[in-house]
Amino acid sequence: MYEDGYENITNIDISHTVVKYMEDKTKSRCPKMFYRQTDVLDMSDLKQGEYNIILDKGTLDSILCGDNSTPNAEKMLGEVYRILAPSGTYICVTYGDEDHRKKFFVNYSFNNLNENASFLEIKLKLFFNVHIIILERI
Ligand SMILES: C[S@@+](CC[C@H](N)C(=O)[O-])C[C@H]1O[C@@H](n2cnc3c(N)ncnc32)[C@H](O)[C@@H]1O
Repeated sequence: MYEDGYENITNIDISHTVVKYMEDKTKSRCPKMFYRQTDVLDMSDLKQGEYNIILDKGTLDSILCGDNSTPNAEKMLGEVYRILAPSGTYICVTYGDEDHRKKFFVNYSFNNLNENASFLEIKLKLFFNVHIIILERI
């Protein structure tokens, strides 16, 4: 993405080790890319509507594999919704079952999905089934 001209990127992870490793790994190739250690369950340091696009690759899955999975997934999606700009896009790359993931978006953070969001789902046939769910915050 960076090499395609999307230089204004903030990368987050809860792990300081991951953040430091990725920062070191990419700093010469992507000097303007920004990293921060942040918990997706509490992104209160990030402003409402601050991001046009949120790309989640495996973080919701990670939350759903942990303790308190359902309430924590609700919290995360609530935070994603809050920091996403109107008309912004949330892209969720997930190994999860489509119907299970849809339930989270419909019932919680993205109320009334059919009316409030356009929804596109692409299934990639890789080694595992990878689902890409794209939600537009309208
Ligand atoms: C499957 S890995 C994906 C990492 C990266 N997005 C990628 O595509 O390579 C899931 C990541 O979620 C991070 N993670 C788990 N819980 C988190 C939380 N509460 N807040 C932020 N990151 C979290 C883990 O530290 C881990 O690096």
